[in-house]
Amino acid sequence: MPVVSEDHIRALLSAPPVPPQARRLERSQALKREGEALIPGCSQTFSKGPTQFVQGVAPVYLQRGSGCRVWDVDGNEYLDFSMALGAVTLGYGDARVAEAIARQAREGISFTLSHPLELEVARLLAELIPCAEMVRFGKNGSDVTSAAVRVSRAFTGRDLMLCCGYHGWQDWFVGTTTRRRGVPDAVAGLTKAFAYNDLASLEALFASHPGRVAAVIMEPVGLVEPAQGFLEGVREVTRRHGALMIFDEIVTWPRVGLGGAQQRFGVIPDLACVGKGLANGMPSAALAGRRDVMQLFEEVFFSSTFGGETASLAAAKATIEALREPGAIETLWERGRRLRESYNALAEAYGLGQATRCLGLSPRTGVMFNGPDGLAMKTYVQQECLKRGLLFTATHNMCLAHTDEDVDAALRVYRTALELLAAALRERRLGALLEGPVVQPVFRKP
Ligand SMILES: Cc1ncc(COP(=O)(O)O)c(C=O)c1O
Repeated sequence: MPVVSEDHIRALLSAPPVPPQARRLERSQALKREGEALIPGCSQTFSKGPTQFVQGVAPVYLQRGSGCRVWDVDGNEYLDFSMALGAVTLGYGDARVAEAIARQAREGISFTLSHPLELEVARLLAELIPCAEMVRFGKNGSDVTSAAVRVSRAFTGRDLMLCCGYHGWQDWFVGTTTRRRGVPDAVAGLTKAFAYNDLASLEALFASHPGRVAAVIMEPVGLVEPAQGFLEGVREVTRRHGALMIFDEIVTWPRVGLGGAQQRFGVIPDLACVGKGLANGMPSAALAGRRDVMQLFEEVFFSSTFGGETASLAAAKATIEALREPGAIETLWERGRRLRESYNALAEAYGLGQATRCLGLSPRTGVMFNGPDGLAMKTYVQQECLKRGLLFTATHNMCLAHTDEDVDAALRVYRTALELLAAALRERRLGALLEGPVVQPVFRKP
């Protein structure tokens, strides 16, 4: 059933274009100059760094946020759909989470023994996530994907990992990417990547490494939906070969649903990693799974000073409770779907259907730009969105604070940016219209 009416698209197309706003970026630029001298890459996260945003047009530092809006250090306001790379599920500065953190901060944040909040959040996750019989916490997604890898190797007594997707910054995964400097060959050789929706590529790896695969770790769904039988096929192949199946649900959970992609697609892995959206921006991640595997952590070393840090766990509890409210997850689906479908209708209307598309499950969608000019088109759209108060990263991570009006505001900006893009392509002036360097991919194509 379409959620986007033709009238809605007609109204968007006939509305006047959104004009650029007057913005200053002096403070961002000054901090960037200092940042370049003091912080390699000018950021702690590749995707937040200057290579990802059109420099000269984009802010470099954000100061604060409220709901789905953020303000940069020069005071410019932006509508945000990236939501801290997906970490923020309720909204910036959510009062329930802020209060939970403040209360916990007053009572103490880290202790000499474990805290009951570990049990409370573990209990919630065990109730919600089908594969979760036992739960352990970490701080980053990379903590729990790496813990899953180690425990799988211990459980099976095998060393090879097969992966599909992005799984964090640790050696075992980054060795498979184009940013593998510093990863020893001996480690890189222990993980092999297979192609999504291509069961044959997985079968071939099992066949060429008989009896050596400890586990398959994969994002159950990215911007492309699983083909009929694909996830079931992975489940069957792993069982047949005595390997474990790990779902990396760092970005699918909880937006797709509080039971994760595993519940949505009815394929239950042995282990699951969740994280980004767990605590509305506080650092917390969890590994959940089968009791007989998880119990090995009594022996297998997964231990850190801050794994049970309580301000984040209090935030996680408040976040889960808010997302459990009736209709919460459905809202993320509905608004995300309207955004995706309207973006695609606008692209079609401007003759850009081949050049750009918004893809993915409604609560988390991504805008793709195709062909050799893809990155230049992305840069231009980002440039024109930024000028109009939309912090465009090409990803939409829906949060509870996004309203229908926010979606419409973003669509009005997209309508303007796509109209400009169509004209730039028609007049072959795309390169000339860029006001800064083309944005770069974090990982090059191998
Ligand atoms: C699917 C997936 N797995 C793992 C990670 C790593 O998480 P973190 O950056 O918190 O270590 C990410 C981060 O983007 C991710 O998207």
